[in-house]
Amino acid sequence: MRQINIMKKLVVLTGAGMSAESGLKTFRDSGGLWEQYNVYEVATPEAWERDPVLVLRFYNERRKQLLDAVPNEGHLGLVELEKRFDVHIITQNVDDLHERAGSRKVLHLHGEIRKSRSTRNPSRVYDIEGAELNPGDLCELGSQLRPHVVWFGEPVPAIGEAMAVAGEADIFVVIGTSLNVYPAAGLLQYIKPAIPVYIIDPADIPAPGIENVTVIREPAGRGVKTLMELLSKQA
Ligand code: OAD
Repeated sequence: MRQINIMKKLVVLTGAGMSAESGLKTFRDSGGLWEQYNVYEVATPEAWERDPVLVLRFYNERRKQLLDAVPNEGHLGLVELEKRFDVHIITQNVDDLHERAGSRKVLHLHGEIRKSRSTRNPSRVYDIEGAELNPGDLCELGSQLRPHVVWFGEPVPAIGEAMAVAGEADIFVVIGTSLNVYPAAGLLQYIKPAIPVYIIDPADIPAPGIENVTVIREPAGRGVKTLMELLSKQA
């Protein structure tokens, strides 16, 4: 006899706020990374052309901080939700804290900072040993390696899959993203009409045109607990 899967599909879009309580900086909050760095000098193809050493140093610092960080209550709560839901995480984060927490279905929209790829053959992707990727680190065909991340002005190869996942959601949750960056921010437009949407963020995040929204104005750790309580009342 075949078992019928009756779990609802819970799709979670996460951003930098998800990892804030793990000690990783967000981008646009006060004191955030884009206050400290000029995005055009460290996170664009032009920056890589102009000053690859600076770009590599920027990502090496991010990677070092990530290696010292651990998943927080929010990441762990999303793993817990897998007991009751078919949880799919679509993350804009380049960290691996969802995976380290134990989430099984994680789609990275903006790449993964602990991986590198060849500048000549983008399909050649490698794990980075330790924290540093340096000038002269080459793929086996001899091309310089770059961080396996999406820079501003580059296509987002995973967006098609993310749209399909969003379109199948029975419940959609947004955690810790200012929804400023497209195409990620546009994913809400692909959900089925009137499904429950939850937004977890200490700030007020506008979601124009989206019905049935419950706002949880809390940091990710506490917010995911509140979400779990609300979902358990529903079921
Ligand atoms: P932002 O820095 O734009 O937004 C972070 C959000 O997290 C804000 O809405 C904060 O209010 C919220 N926040 C802060 N602390 C939080 C906490 N403890 N718990 C929950 N939320 C909290 O970051 P993103 O929206 O992720 O792209 O930025 C999107 C993209 O822009 C990034 O992936 C990156 C960046 O430039 C690239 O580098 C390509």
